[in-house]
Amino acid sequence: MSEEKNEITLKNYQVKIQDGLLQHLAEFIKPLWQPKKIAVITDDNVGPLYVDKVEAQLIEMGHRVVILTVPAGETSKSWEQVQVLIDSLAQNNFVRSDGIVALGGGVVGDLAGFVASIYMRGISLIQIPTSLLAQVDSSVGGKTAIDLNAGKNMVGSFYQPNLVLIDPSTIQTLPKRMLVEGYGEIVKCAALVGGSFWEIVQKVHQPADIILQAESLIHASIAFKASVVMRDEKENGLRKLLNFGHTLGHALELIEDGQLMHGEAVAVGMAYITAAFEKKGMTAAGTTAEITARLAQVGLPLVANQLGSAAFYRAMLHDKKIKGDQIILVYIKKIGEPAFYPLKITELKKWFEPILNSQIEDN
Ligand SMILES: NC(=O)c1ccc[n+]([C@@H]2O[C@H](COP(=O)([O-])OP(=O)(O)OC[C@H]3O[C@@H](n4cnc5c(N)ncnc54)[C@H](O)[C@@H]3O)[C@@H](O)[C@H]2O)c1
Repeated sequence: MSEEKNEITLKNYQVKIQDGLLQHLAEFIKPLWQPKKIAVITDDNVGPLYVDKVEAQLIEMGHRVVILTVPAGETSKSWEQVQVLIDSLAQNNFVRSDGIVALGGGVVGDLAGFVASIYMRGISLIQIPTSLLAQVDSSVGGKTAIDLNAGKNMVGSFYQPNLVLIDPSTIQTLPKRMLVEGYGEIVKCAALVGGSFWEIVQKVHQPADIILQAESLIHASIAFKASVVMRDEKENGLRKLLNFGHTLGHALELIEDGQLMHGEAVAVGMAYITAAFEKKGMTAAGTTAEITARLAQVGLPLVANQLGSAAFYRAMLHDKKIKGDQIILVYIKKIGEPAFYPLKITELKKWFEPILNSQIEDN
């Protein structure tokens, strides 16, 4: 990985981060793509806001453009949508040398990425993520997926784009709850990295500050994710660090019946996993307070109704981090010092119970 201001280079593609970048796409796309057919895949929230701008510039570069719009929301990560999109590509005579631009949040990125990876055994892809979560997380790393009834992200592929173009100014049109949710992911990365990254999140005291600090927050998050992904592309070891807060968070997300968004559930998960390790003397005193302060200031939740319920423990057993009879927990010894802790599944309840039954203070 190499890193300059506004640019991070992964193994074979670049991530460009720049306010207003959406106004001058040619600068980045022209050197990479000869004129071809391009399907811009977007959703019905993002399309009306940004697709005209993107389409006009692609046409100006000499491309032929087809706009494919899916309904906004997680339900679009389905076989049905894959079928619709692939049929549209075939009907428009897309061939292997043509390309797809994914313009939207993580749903569009995952879906369009998956379609790009399987159509004609793989056609070129550019990611233009527009939600904060997609800008700091899902657009980088090459994971694509759709959901099954049996669970989220059950079918997918590892497929790297040619380019990731991030215009932080697009998050100004995001609903506040989604902005804050994406920021939860940033706090997670900052807690794992510490140092100057943790200093940047100290500057965020309210949701509006997320927009003010967006460029440096996104840059720091991606630089971290890229460094982890580059060392562990297929998620065998190091990449599991990114699961900090997720063991408890995923369980809550599953059972809170749509009440908690992913990033909100992970916020609760980070608060409680840190409190649990702090209580056991494995995390430096005061670390939980440092993390909860960051989350609470933007209005992220620190508690959830179902925490500690029987359903909660059952849901934890569906975790992907289970290896044999152990669940691998990610925790931090202090800000910037992550570690793994294998816990016997049979011990799970006994281990977590004391902390789940106590209150975490929000400072
Ligand atoms: N591939 C990965 O590595 C990875 C990592 C994390 C999450 N994900 C996936 O990402 C998805 C969640 O991503 P998300 O939170 O971006 O969800 P999303 O794509 O559903 O976007 C959230 C909402 O914001 C809207 N939106 C997006 N950008 C907007 C903008 N600039 N202005 C106004 N509205 C905008 C969308 O239409 C949607 O309604 C999940 O499916 C998750 O599984 C993938």
